[in-house]
Amino acid sequence: MTSVFYINASPRGAASASTQAADNFLAALPNTATVKRLPLFESDLPEFAAVLASAKQKVMTGAALDDLEAAEWRQITALVDQFTAADHYLLAVPMWNFSIPYKLKHYIDLLTHPGLTFSRDANGVHGLASGSATVIYSRGGDYSPKDGLPDPFDFQSPYLRAWLTMVGLDPINEVLVQRTMAGPEGQADAVGAAQPQLVSLASALV
Ligand SMILES: Cc1cc2nc3c(=O)[nH]c(=O)nc-3n(C[C@H](O)[C@H](O)[C@H](O)COP(=O)(O)O)c2cc1C
Repeated sequence: MTSVFYINASPRGAASASTQAADNFLAALPNTATVKRLPLFESDLPEFAAVLASAKQKVMTGAALDDLEAAEWRQITALVDQFTAADHYLLAVPMWNFSIPYKLKHYIDLLTHPGLTFSRDANGVHGLASGSATVIYSRGGDYSPKDGLPDPFDFQSPYLRAWLTMVGLDPINEVLVQRTMAGPEGQADAVGAAQPQLVSLASALV
């Protein structure tokens, strides 16, 4: 039985292209799969402000946390435990200003700490999560690689791919939902074009 953790980074609900594409993936999952959802724009994520910044420094240097820091750090470890529990990760990620929405960056900042989601030794960095990922990138325009070179304005997929790899996910299957703003049928066409790839990825999860 595969447990899928579905992280949604669009605030647009049912109108969202990445959400519609993710729904197509979920509909094609084997019925033995279980799904947990994290809609980031509906989630009350803790602020990563002074107390957590101090707690992180102390955790990294082995210093003792005070009571307030310990209480906030427990929120971090709970989020990490929730994140690392899955076998497969489904991410619905709009492009915002060539990169990812700030709520997803906030979530990444909450999760990314040595000893929790990655470790480091003489051989480099090792992810402490495991499992595969399907990442849906929705974009108003088209940022496909051209002539074998990545689009210089695509800071969305390289960043997310690097982070998911660092925390240990492999393979990372990427699905493009592009030109969502190209005319009245643009979004439906973009979501429809991604459907075969999404069905194939979902039905392979046994
Ligand atoms: C704040 C914001 C910034 C955006 N920036 C870009 C951009 O840099 N490039 C682009 O192609 N589309 C951009 N768009 C358009 C979205 O990527 C596009 O509408 C996409 O379908 C949104 O995904 P969603 O429908 O799943 O929410 C932006 C949209 C918003 C709301």
